[in-house]
Amino acid sequence: MCGIVGYIGPERATDILMEGLTRLEYRGYDSAGVAVYENGKIQVIKARGRLDCLRSKLEGQPLYGHVGIGHTRWATHGEPSDENSHPHLSQSGRIAVVHNGIIENYAPLREKLMRKGYEFVSETDTEVFAHLLEDTFSRGNGDILKAVRDTVLKLEGAYALGVLCSRFPDRIIAARKDSPLIVGLGEGCNYIASDIPAVLPYTRRVYLLEEGEMAQVFADHVEIYDMDLQRVDKEVYEVTWSVDAAERGGYAHFMLKEIYDQARAMRDTISPRVKEGRFNLAEAGLTDEMLEKVRRVVITACGTASYAGQVGRSLIEKLCRVPVEIDVASEFRYRDPILSPEDLFIVVSQSGETADTLAALRLAKARGCKVLAITNVVGSTIAREADNVLYTWAGPEIAVASTKAYTTQVLCFMMIALQLALVKGRITQEKYDEYMKEFLTLPDKAEKILEDVTPIQKLAARFFSQEDIFFIGRGLDNALCMEASLKLKEISYIHSEAMPAGELKHGTIALIEPGRLVVAMCTQTATMDKLFSNIREVLTRGAVVLAVGYEDSTREDEATSYRMAIPRTDDLFAPVLAVIPAQLFAYYCAIQRGYDPDKPRNLAKSVTVE
Ligand code: G6P
Repeated sequence: MCGIVGYIGPERATDILMEGLTRLEYRGYDSAGVAVYENGKIQVIKARGRLDCLRSKLEGQPLYGHVGIGHTRWATHGEPSDENSHPHLSQSGRIAVVHNGIIENYAPLREKLMRKGYEFVSETDTEVFAHLLEDTFSRGNGDILKAVRDTVLKLEGAYALGVLCSRFPDRIIAARKDSPLIVGLGEGCNYIASDIPAVLPYTRRVYLLEEGEMAQVFADHVEIYDMDLQRVDKEVYEVTWSVDAAERGGYAHFMLKEIYDQARAMRDTISPRVKEGRFNLAEAGLTDEMLEKVRRVVITACGTASYAGQVGRSLIEKLCRVPVEIDVASEFRYRDPILSPEDLFIVVSQSGETADTLAALRLAKARGCKVLAITNVVGSTIAREADNVLYTWAGPEIAVASTKAYTTQVLCFMMIALQLALVKGRITQEKYDEYMKEFLTLPDKAEKILEDVTPIQKLAARFFSQEDIFFIGRGLDNALCMEASLKLKEISYIHSEAMPAGELKHGTIALIEPGRLVVAMCTQTATMDKLFSNIREVLTRGAVVLAVGYEDSTREDEATSYRMAIPRTDDLFAPVLAVIPAQLFAYYCAIQRGYDPDKPRNLAKSVTVE
């Protein structure tokens, strides 16, 4: 999604802005631009396409000013073009604006401004803000902060805003509502950014702006205000993760690095929660007393996080005999869901910023539910608005295609399910201990899968030119198939479908033709015979079957032509291991097809629009 960077200080602003924007590339974008105050006025340079397009424009027309704002845009209102890129200038050229989010009432505001004689050069909602701010400022008392406040009060929707005004070149003004924004604190210089990695090379000290907060960022100090223009005394947040953690560290792509980082991430998710042979989830409000009262669980999320939720549903229902309802957040929020304050309501979000998930959280809270968030990003909006948070501790996930966030989200569900099952007396202490023992081996087993990935690389080289690939499985394998299939299509652009294996014959089997690849997830012993009947159904129609199963199982070899193996574990824990070969298969298919897995077309890491 869009990225914002701002800088004020002694350095050449464009150097810092371009570096920051480069670090935000992972958010997904289709155009970029900068605005710098220089020689008494604001200069704007922007370009459609990758940052390199902007870089070459800047080489031809270098800017030397010391205060500026920059932006990477992911088109929402208006196609990707130079004109629609940010920053946007007000009519007089005295105000430049960068904006993340969507101004929902932009159409009536635009009409009103046009009637007043304002001329628009773009189709964006953001340009409306630039003109509206100028209009408000010109009728005010010369206080730019107040003019920004008065203008944002007229907006409906979400915004993170950076404002530069040529009348006040000593400051950048920032404001946020429903879209993340931080202020980075330097020595004799300061920054704004939509995401921490943008400022990490320069500082680890940041202010996380809250809903409805504004900042006046000067080179030597920062002032934070609320919507009543009262000063806010904020705590500085010290970033503990390193720049290196946010960089590729020798791997060809962030995605590969993050796949390999999974054993570490899994250990970090598990270890703080195991105390004296028991899971302790009290930090997330999941005390024994609270768990005892749970009658129903409701899970909502988007994309990969929703597929982690699908695994969570199967685990909780199977282990705890507690009904679980799950829906993607974009559907959930509009179907007037039936909720009760007794429900355990869980939202799952890597970024903690996904607009639909956030809206679902707010809806649940409005209906009196206590919300538990499973998220990766500390200080994210979802983390702050949820009643309780279970952090995944996966570390920054940069690649658009989610990997370590998924495995750690699934681990969180496993811990919740096991603890809930014990507290509700659905499993004995002995069984719980047995599960715990096996659960603690999962990071080592993940590491083992990653020791030699050559067989998976070879399979990708064999199958990358397929046009359609089907994933089939039953029970937990079916939940996993959805994520495996999503991973493949996200980065390799191979069309793919995940089907419950037994459902295939009710329609989709019509698409099976000689040579078509069907990936069969084979980790659920209870339904294995049934699954093998389904495998035979596709084999007899000429399909090629690639099985994902336990390394010590010979069964797959009898019926299928190819396999990817995982170490033996309890069937309940298999998704967290079996997803790893599927991630690698998707990654190597993308490489074989010549695509950059870190920058999949049309996708964004964090989707902050609905
Ligand atoms: C985007 C990403 C997906 C991600 C989804 C939910 O669509 O491309 O990879 O699964 O958002 O993101 P979240 O941050 O809420 O987990």
